[in-house]
Amino acid sequence: MSKKKEIAPGHDLFAAATAAIAVDKLTEKDAAAELERLAGEIAEHDRRYHGEDAPTISDAEYDALRLRNNAIEARFPKLIRPDSPSHRVGAKASEKFAKVVHARPMLSLDNAFADEDVTDFVARIRRFLGLGDDVPLTFTCEPKIDGLSASLRYENGVLVQAATRGDGTEGEDITANVRTITDIPLRLKGKAPAVLEVRGEVYMTHKEFERIVAEQEAENRERAEKGKKELPVYANPRNSAAGSLRQLDPAVTASRKLNFFAYAWGEASDMPADTQSGMLSAFKNFGFVVNPLIRQAATVEEILAFYREIGEKRALLPYDIDGVVYKIDSLELQQRLGFISRSPRWAIAHKFPAEQAETTVEDIDIQVGRTGKLTPVAKLKPVTVGGVVVQNATLHNQDYIAKLDVRIGDTVVIQRAGDVIPQVVRVVEDKRPKASKPYKFPDKCPVCGSHAVREVDEKTGKEDVDRRCTGGLICPAQAVERLRHFVSRDCFDIEGMGEKAIQSFFEDGLIKEPADIFQLSQKHAEALLEREGWGEQSVKKLFEAIDARRQIPLDRFINALGIRHVGETTAKLLARHFHTLLAFYEGLNSKTATTDLQAIDGIGETVAKAIKDFYDEPRNLAALFRLARELTVLDVAAPAASGSPVAGKTVVFTGSLEKMTRQEAKARAESLGAKVASSVSKKTDIVIAGPGAGSKLAEAEKHGVQVMNEDEWLGLIGG
Ligand code: IVH
Repeated sequence: MSKKKEIAPGHDLFAAATAAIAVDKLTEKDAAAELERLAGEIAEHDRRYHGEDAPTISDAEYDALRLRNNAIEARFPKLIRPDSPSHRVGAKASEKFAKVVHARPMLSLDNAFADEDVTDFVARIRRFLGLGDDVPLTFTCEPKIDGLSASLRYENGVLVQAATRGDGTEGEDITANVRTITDIPLRLKGKAPAVLEVRGEVYMTHKEFERIVAEQEAENRERAEKGKKELPVYANPRNSAAGSLRQLDPAVTASRKLNFFAYAWGEASDMPADTQSGMLSAFKNFGFVVNPLIRQAATVEEILAFYREIGEKRALLPYDIDGVVYKIDSLELQQRLGFISRSPRWAIAHKFPAEQAETTVEDIDIQVGRTGKLTPVAKLKPVTVGGVVVQNATLHNQDYIAKLDVRIGDTVVIQRAGDVIPQVVRVVEDKRPKASKPYKFPDKCPVCGSHAVREVDEKTGKEDVDRRCTGGLICPAQAVERLRHFVSRDCFDIEGMGEKAIQSFFEDGLIKEPADIFQLSQKHAEALLEREGWGEQSVKKLFEAIDARRQIPLDRFINALGIRHVGETTAKLLARHFHTLLAFYEGLNSKTATTDLQAIDGIGETVAKAIKDFYDEPRNLAALFRLARELTVLDVAAPAASGSPVAGKTVVFTGSLEKMTRQEAKARAESLGAKVASSVSKKTDIVIAGPGAGSKLAEAEKHGVQVMNEDEWLGLIGG
């Protein structure tokens, strides 16, 4: 703990990692776009964290995202989105468990990082209640347990239901699993209220976490010996607790020791006390475990002294805590203070800063993800941070390395805040070896050798922070993902070749790239028959399913290539434009391909560049040729039913249609050879405007585009 710095976790990281515009410099337009981006990004992290127990960013980074979101909302309250993360506490309940709507919502806590935030919190309370400095106030100070909160409902003293927090309003029913936790009484002791919901934290001790990790590692060694892919190991006790609690089989939960501290309540038919501390004593009497470190404090000084005391004890505790929670003790005052948004005004969580340590970077490794993203990882001289030995730390991306100027051989400060992935925070320049050179980020994929490129956003002209491997078809790091896409419904639609089969065929070297699928029957029939779960019948069926796809329309073929940004719709546009595989190939072979592609309605710069990047990687082309040799790629006829008056025309529908759905109208127009676009431009020939048509109609008038109503359109295309 001695090396820790008083920084707000995440602030520096966020700025460094995203080179974001400062909140006070954002224009309203930027702010709206940024809020949209943050809503999406935070929702995705919530889903990974709560829905899958598999977060991909650190807590500090996550906090930074939410803080930025809140700061922008505070500046532009008008822009607060209906799906704003500030309305939500966690992720939506996952689909596997029954849903439970909480009788009272499960709320979140506001965070304090610096001492001043705590002073402000107390001052705010005094102001709100109109209390002078001389009027005494009592706070309970509780360690903030780093687990997951649960709500336990007792009726007539008997546990009837347990739920996770979920999104705060609706959680998951985990009753069966909670019954296996010995800290949780199945029946309350003494005289309990008729209805009482006790809330608190389910957590896992370090000892139990280590036991489970050892178990998972042993299982992985066994898997590796059998040539099976290793499974992810829990990253920290909290994820392990979450994963253990959210097991569909309660026997698994029972085999892992979880613990519980009670600290709050939901619905209660009678209140056994009128203070927070009184409620905690009552919980103890009912048979719960209440954290023994909880204290009372009367002043900011006492509160902060407690914070420091707990901070010092933190490394010695048998479980993780990530801060201290201060709560107004009097329930009457709690009630008067009420809530702001989804956090009580009467409580705050004072977070511990991320724990830091110094070590040296022995190497920088580039990892390639399933989607081709290159992530640099610092290989560190092992160092202990917050009780955990750290050997790797993420460097995020090329810009992050450049911004911090991290070099191999450098001494760096790393930090970990109960985090999954430790961060490199800064370089200690005084300790830099004389001969060191700036790190040169590779422009080739370290796994397959293909070009690795950074995309340019067509609107902002800015480079994407991530560099990606373009060897989608052949890169082993991306192979399973690509092959899965290749055989999926909208592509080759090969029955009997699910994700599991792909994964194991790939691991056993039977299929490395798409062409191999079509050579299975010649090369690997025997090997398939020897596999567990495969018999004559199923192998025969699989080969038939594969043979059935040796003829494939060009649009599906293009979609199956897995070119970045090219999905079903773009593949169709390309197929309709080029008609044949040869023309597609020749079109891309041209020097002006990137601009030519943009002449196709519906294809912009980003997509055009992605297609060209794919083409420019010779390994992709080689794989494409190997594949094409196995297949007959069917030409896509120009849909121009040549007699049709709308063949080759670009049309846009706007407003509501009365005689058919938008989807039907679109399909009909396309079958007659028209191209249906979503926005009006100079290239538009006809706008079909129904009631409620707005800006598109105005655009049409501006460009002098022919406008007609639905009946006129139907008249034109023959009813
Ligand atoms: S009180 C209305 N007390 O922290 C207030 N929360 O960031 C409800 N937590 O969701 C929460 N220890 O999972 C409270 N002693 C404690 C806590 C605690 C850990 C967690 C809890 C909550 C989150 C809020």
